[in-house]
Amino acid sequence: MFPTAAAIVAAALAAVALAGCGETRDVSAAAALGPGRQIFARSCSGCHTVTGRESATSGGNLLNAHLSIADLASFAKEMPTPRPLSRAEILAVAEYVHSVAASAAARRR
Ligand code: HEC
Repeated sequence: MFPTAAAIVAAALAAVALAGCGETRDVSAAAALGPGRQIFARSCSGCHTVTGRESATSGGNLLNAHLSIADLASFAKEMPTPRPLSRAEILAVAEYVHSVAASAAARRR
């Protein structure tokens, strides 16, 4: 009886550990993009979209430009954002736009 129960517990723990690993990865990836996404929503989305489709916004769709993170950051620095962004925020928003562009490109492949 005891070994069986122990085996079940061990299997359950292993399953939890495995599921935990996957979740942790997903959550940390989402958390890493979270700030950039929020900055984009607050500071850029009035003039830009990242939908991959043409839009009627004044700055247009940022996925059409195929810019590097460095180029995105240097544009972001010059943009008339509602409030000035810190260097960390500029980098976060550049990484966010770049990651959306990269996953859109991956879907097209
Ligand atoms: C008040 C409006 C406005 C805001 C806010 C704004 N932009 Fe822009 N942005 C523009 C306009 C207008 C252009 C020029 C578009 C063009 O020439 O096609 C532009 C151009 C760009 C470009 C170059 C695109 C290209 O096709 O080469 C990037 C990158 C960019 N913006 C990123 C950002 C980011 C990131 C933010 C937020 C941090 C932001 N912008 C906020 C209006 C804005």
